Amino acid sequence: MKVTYYGHSCFMVEVNGEKLLFDPFITPNELAREIDISTIQPDYILVSHGHADHVADLETIANSSNATVVCSFELEAWLHSKDIKNTHSMNHGGEWTFDFGVVKCVAAVHSSSLPDGTYGGNPLGFVIRSDEGAFYFAGDTAVTLDMQLIPRTNKIDFAFLPIGSNYTMGIDDAVVAAEFIKCDRIVPMHYNTFDWIKIDIEEAKRKFNVAGDELIVLNIGETREI
Ligand code: NI
Ligand code: MN
Repeated sequence: MKVTYYGHSCFMVEVNGEKLLFDPFITPNELAREIDISTIQPDYILVSHGHADHVADLETIANSSNATVVCSFELEAWLHSKDIKNTHSMNHGGEWTFDFGVVKCVAAVHSSSLPDGTYGGNPLGFVIRSDEGAFYFAGDTAVTLDMQLIPRTNKIDFAFLPIGSNYTMGIDDAVVAAEFIKCDRIVPMHYNTFDWIKIDIEEAKRKFNVAGDELIVLNIGETREI
């Protein structure tokens, strides 16, 4: 699948010709200054939770693209209040078949409120399954024992895991998460954007390599076949 990195936890993944955008946070990101969000035209926007570093550009891109926003029930209500009506709400444990494949919502241990203080519902992780393969987008989360359930029903080809610590799991726990989901190709996210989540990416690569995993580090703006 073709994967483009827009910084922090924001990625575009092409699945069966459909463009899926995850957690749009670009314009406030100092590291993503070269990205022009008017060029980002997804078919779907999947939002893990309501924190500003995951929804900053959600309204703008949802309006410009008319993409279907997949998110929690509470985040959907917030979008409806802003007249963004093309939405599909889900919650932990649920699956839905879209035209590109199946989305399964899995648990994320975190919190979720919108920038204006509105309650955002449960924070979500997503497993995407299609005839092109399957991947896991963890969202913001700690490592959880629940992650061991994911490979029972989905063979994960690659996974987006946060590694920045402080607000989410850090490098060592992400190595454990990779083991839990039985996936050896990990794309790191949620690191270096802010002072509190700065990490040594070379150290991260070494630790994943020692565990037998490949850490696939994308530069901001880079597109790669994964
Ligand atoms: Ni968060
Ligand atoms: Mn975050």
